[in-house]
Amino acid sequence: MSTSFQNIKGTFDILPDAYSDGGTRIASSAEWHAVEETIRDVMHRHNLEEIRTPIFEPTELVARGVGQMTDIVSKEMFAFERSGTNYVLRPEITAPVMRSFLQHHLEQRGGVQKLFYIGPCFRAEQPQKGRYRQFHQFGVEVIGADDPRADAETIAIMMAIYRAFGVENTSLRINTLGMPDARAKFVNALRDYLEPYEDDLSETSRRRLAKNPLRILDTKLDYEQEILANAPALTDFVEADSREHYERVKTHLDDLSIEYEEDPLLVRGLDYYTRTAFELESPDLGAQSALAGGGRYDLLAEEIGSSQPVPSIGFAAGMERLFLAIEAAGNDLPEPAGADVFFASLGEDAERWVFRTVHRFRREGLHVAHDLKGRSLKSQMKEANRQDATYAIIIGGNELEAGAAQVKHMASGEQVEVPFDGIVDFVMDRK
Ligand code: HAM
Repeated sequence: MSTSFQNIKGTFDILPDAYSDGGTRIASSAEWHAVEETIRDVMHRHNLEEIRTPIFEPTELVARGVGQMTDIVSKEMFAFERSGTNYVLRPEITAPVMRSFLQHHLEQRGGVQKLFYIGPCFRAEQPQKGRYRQFHQFGVEVIGADDPRADAETIAIMMAIYRAFGVENTSLRINTLGMPDARAKFVNALRDYLEPYEDDLSETSRRRLAKNPLRILDTKLDYEQEILANAPALTDFVEADSREHYERVKTHLDDLSIEYEEDPLLVRGLDYYTRTAFELESPDLGAQSALAGGGRYDLLAEEIGSSQPVPSIGFAAGMERLFLAIEAAGNDLPEPAGADVFFASLGEDAERWVFRTVHRFRREGLHVAHDLKGRSLKSQMKEANRQDATYAIIIGGNELEAGAAQVKHMASGEQVEVPFDGIVDFVMDRK
């Protein structure tokens, strides 16, 4: 069978079975489910609550939140207009979560709001391994806390998730960006320093020099890194209380035995960050090596209209890159369980009895499979095997007459005769 339609480039289908998409393994829906369950479990253990926001938001929210000059907003948004209003498919979930927090007055619940999410995001980037146009993020936002312990705890939650999957080969880099005033002074100094080198810079960096010089620090080009070696350092511009905050974040990371490397060039690609910024990388992932990133965004709330500051910190991570890292670590994902019972039937009376019984057993809590195609007994038993059923039961005229059936354990081949009204208990007892 076929169709002329294809999923859009940079997106992928999640199917009942894992498959290869241009050399990348796309995990099965059961594997996605298992991974999401483990993530939720770690989140709950860390006393976080789930939040779900819509996948589209007003363009203005994302532009103001993430920043007009960022690559995400200026080049990568899936945007559309409807009845005079501009919308975007969300490229990230921090600004939406802050919008939701403010709109619903979640501060009235009292204390710090520790929220997590799992869901799709959209960025019109050039697709490549580990980089999609529709990808999935899980993340945490700790809203209403400026205590450095919130920073260390957020990083600890991120690390706990990778540990839960046996992904140990990672490197954590951290930095402090200070508050906007310090950053503005630094940006001026950086621009003054780089201007004489303008002709030596790549086209991308030349564009950034005019619009967003901070991002030049992200360069992967050797000759640009050489130029930057003697550039002014952001660290020298950061105010004393941000530096003090950063020292305490590091102390708390040490308290939790979390290893990190300080990287004064780490700036991140979103404008809302203040103070702490961090990124987790895997050397096993190739060009798209960022597993997760985050930081503090103490001014985002005011940027999107709050009359009061709401100091907050969070991180987000790519699900697809988590799968790649689990694969690179050589770790297996939990296998989904097959049906408890597969019913095969012979003849029309048996078919109707099976149909009724399958639905009754399901109501009683068993995972029951059967054939919906009226196939031969041989094909039905093949299907029972393919579906990895624990037990198979064949119903024909004799069984109907006797009111009992042979319950076959598929793995061992052992058979036991069980009266019809004892089958549910028989299977339940052995689950
Ligand atoms: P981000 O660094 O833009 O941060 O994205 C976080 C993670 O999402 C990345 O490290 C990467 O794993 C994944 N990711 C991003 N773009 C793609 C893509 N095109 N394909 C596949 N995976 C991708 C944020 O989004 C911030 N909201 C993080 C944050 C939360 N900061 C504070 N709270």
